[in-house]
Amino acid sequence: MKNFVTINTKIKSFKNSIIVPGDKSISIRFILLASQAIGKSNGYNLLESEDVINSIKAMKALGVKIIKNKKVYEIYGVGLNGFNFKNNLIINAGNSGTLSRILPGQLAKTNKTIKIIGDKSLSKRDFSRIIKPLQLFGINLKSKNNNLPISVKGSKFLRPISYFEKKGSAQVKSSCLFAALNTPGLTTVKSVPSRNHTELMLKNCLKLPITSKRIGKFDITKIHGGNQFHRFNYNVPGDISSAAFFIALTILSTNSYLIIKNVNINKSRTGIIEILKKMNAKIIIKNKKFYHGEENADIIIRSSPNLRSINCPRSLNTKTIDEFLIIFLICARSKGVSKFVGLEELRHKESDRLNIGSNFLKMIGVNVKETFNSLKIFGNPNLRLKGNYIVKNFKKDHRVFMMSCIAALTLGGNFKIKDKNSINSSFPNFITILRNLGAEVK
Ligand code: S3P
Repeated sequence: MKNFVTINTKIKSFKNSIIVPGDKSISIRFILLASQAIGKSNGYNLLESEDVINSIKAMKALGVKIIKNKKVYEIYGVGLNGFNFKNNLIINAGNSGTLSRILPGQLAKTNKTIKIIGDKSLSKRDFSRIIKPLQLFGINLKSKNNNLPISVKGSKFLRPISYFEKKGSAQVKSSCLFAALNTPGLTTVKSVPSRNHTELMLKNCLKLPITSKRIGKFDITKIHGGNQFHRFNYNVPGDISSAAFFIALTILSTNSYLIIKNVNINKSRTGIIEILKKMNAKIIIKNKKFYHGEENADIIIRSSPNLRSINCPRSLNTKTIDEFLIIFLICARSKGVSKFVGLEELRHKESDRLNIGSNFLKMIGVNVKETFNSLKIFGNPNLRLKGNYIVKNFKKDHRVFMMSCIAALTLGGNFKIKDKNSINSSFPNFITILRNLGAEVK
């Protein structure tokens, strides 16, 4: 099967309602925590993508029984540190940063060695960010150059830590919290605010002694570890990071209207909504509901022809982190110069998204100015494309592929976009939903 798409026609106006798949961060956390709970947990509406399937495979390799019964994932949790596996087990995290970074924390107490490997892109990403704090707990970690493969062996003599997480990385924070679960005593993580799904699950689903408070610019999270916890069920809401592409599609299309049902709108994830509203995009949030501490809602979007530029406050960076690529595209079609600062973390994603995003805009004729951590985009509300464009060499980054499809469907031109299979890591039915809205994706 060919691994590229061609798009030669803009999408026609649409009026529709869609559902995007379950949230990736929540799906992975549910699988990892249910595996360590006592008893059988049911997971509903889990995202069925490669990153999530690799999380399930990892837990199975550690001796956890997981079966899919109709649409429900049943996880027979083994209790804290109840894993059962052979020494020198190899776990392949594929493309998943979240799995590969939380897993070493989860293995805090194991008395056998596990080697974690990953695909080419994941193998180049930075693991010093978790190695440092996890070593403070007493976990044994070895890796060459702070990359994968990484070998992990737990310790019987774990000690709680106080750690300052400065990058605003939820993966690092979560890795520490997973290690803290196994560690008797009080662990404290002071962090630049980032998505807090782990904290909410530990508190609301597992009823563990965890508190998290915003003090000044930081979150202070405290957890007493060493307590077993019990099974729980979870119905995963839609992923705002997947919804983002359809929000952009609707905003940039003409005379279109879209409802995206039951999306997670946790405040640590909704930077995109805040930014787009400031840019004069027509977005309404309806039917807000709380579920296990998470806020979910329907998002209603209309075509927004009068977009203006944004001077994006740094404080929105971590709550927008995976959405910058698609926001950059919207800025290209907005009036004025958009400015983003403090974005160095974008260089450490599945690809260097700051550079790839800025090169993409240059390719379609948009003026940009990129520094090591900032981007200026000189928007053009009349941007229309006519040329031929090939999108390739983007390290198989799923979000680059999806952003390119939205560009092709809203700006025109003839696009060939390679590495279609990249969407399998987060959003396998992305193209199916596009086609259901009338997009001609060949
Ligand atoms: C994630 C956190 C973010 C995000 C990633 C998923 C998570 O990464 O980019 O897609 O599930 O915790 P960082 O924590 O490295 O910023």
